[in-house]
Amino acid sequence: MTFSLTTPRPLIAGNWKMHGLEGSLDEARAVAAAVAEQPPAARVAICPPATLLHRLAEAMAGESVLVGGQDCHPASAGAHTGDVSAAMLVDAGAKLVILGHSERRDAHQESDALVSAKVEAALAAGLEPIVCVGETLAQRDAGQAEAVVTGMARASLPAALAGQDFALAYEPVWAIGTGRTPTVEDITVIHAALRAVLVERFGDHGATVPILYGGSVKPDNAREILSTPEVGGALVGGASLKAADFLAIIAGA
Ligand code: 13P
Repeated sequence: MTFSLTTPRPLIAGNWKMHGLEGSLDEARAVAAAVAEQPPAARVAICPPATLLHRLAEAMAGESVLVGGQDCHPASAGAHTGDVSAAMLVDAGAKLVILGHSERRDAHQESDALVSAKVEAALAAGLEPIVCVGETLAQRDAGQAEAVVTGMARASLPAALAGQDFALAYEPVWAIGTGRTPTVEDITVIHAALRAVLVERFGDHGATVPILYGGSVKPDNAREILSTPEVGGALVGGASLKAADFLAIIAGA
């Protein structure tokens, strides 16, 4: 992909979801070694489960692989058993955080308003949020994909993002973990609609915010997806768990 001084480098972020034990750090070390040997066009991040965050951050010290969380609580501290605050992610070494992933919106009933509050908390702690939106298959089949994702984006992106580093990620729910991907034309339409929302909300800054695509990004489709108009990177699930696959995707940016 081409980029200029006003266009940030693309971002390729691996979302390990609820995968990974101590031994998985070797995959991240292999990614870091390859990235150091041949610096890619993209910024590279790995978002492990919270239990590995600190160990991964230590393993990535001095490397150019960023470390990110997968969620945070909107409060800075308090009686919230099992939750993790944005400041705790920073304390563990995170630079970024994925927020509003469809798996959390679905399994934990996260609303747009809650996601927006989490984004504000992440910004206050100094994290770069990656805010996810995406339609279900039923919504796409009903012709509502564009309306759904633009509505989610408007309601999930707080005004506090103005002038801040962040990314928006389009992740069609039906493409996640299924091996199915939208056509390049479908991605182009949705990303253009999201770009319009970003410009409407944030003006010139909104024109430069990376819009990532996520959902069954693999080594064999990464280059095509990453060269689609308005695609500023990828959020990668399953294929980020193996260094060789993740590196092949990174090379496609
Ligand atoms: P897969 O790449 O496994 O489809 O997951 C995508 C995703 O949910 C990334 O956040």
